[in-house]
Amino acid sequence: MTTSQPDFETYFHERASRFAAFYRSEPVARLLGRGPLFDRLRGTVALVADLGARRVLDVGCGSGPLFAPLARRGVHVVGIDPARAMVAMASREASRYPGMVRVEERGWETIEDEDAYDVAVALGVFDYVGDAAALLERMARAAPHVIGSFPSPGVRTQLRRVRYGRRGVGVYGRSRADLVGLAAAGALDVADLIALGRAGHLAHFSRAHSPETGPPSS
Ligand SMILES: C[S@@+](CC[C@H](N)C(=O)[O-])C[C@H]1O[C@@H](n2cnc3c(N)ncnc32)[C@H](O)[C@@H]1O
Repeated sequence: MTTSQPDFETYFHERASRFAAFYRSEPVARLLGRGPLFDRLRGTVALVADLGARRVLDVGCGSGPLFAPLARRGVHVVGIDPARAMVAMASREASRYPGMVRVEERGWETIEDEDAYDVAVALGVFDYVGDAAALLERMARAAPHVIGSFPSPGVRTQLRRVRYGRRGVGVYGRSRADLVGLAAAGALDVADLIALGRAGHLAHFSRAHSPETGPPSS
């Protein structure tokens, strides 16, 4: 297992079942204010479908809530996560879709692929990564399209920062302007920015095309 943020990994290793339980019932999750977990899954599946993607890298896949909706649409998924307890649950979920989903126990810092995927997704991961540009860069090298969820700065994120901070885990809010800046720094465009209410945004980045070559034809 490789990660430069052992506290982020440990936090979710120790709380894997508790976190996965939010996906058991959407109505209950919504009552608890966790509805955006479902909104970001649906938003991601819709974007992946619109792009006609066939290969998806799911970074920080957790228990694998994206596997079923993608595999059922014929999309191959590789899920990576360094937290052993998450990988155990994700592997069980992957076994329901033979030949469609593979799970690997490793962190985003190990992503070395170039154009191996159509889309790289990270839901609930940028929240805990201080160097968002480094994560975005690796994902954008692995795939021409990147989808990520980002909490907004504000009171809610401040409160999470205090709560997680007690466990040594950082929480980072990013505004729309921050996301546009992140994209520009990585030679990417913000292709879509979907509001997730109080939970922030789902951002779709795509590789920027130069004015000389114009937009891609497909
Ligand atoms: C909030 S959970 C989100 C899980 C899943 N993407 C979802 O939407 O339910 C964050 C996940 O990131 C994982 N994680 C921790 N450190 C990581 C790293 N270095 N690289 C990739 N994922 C990491 C955690 O183990 C956890 O499963």
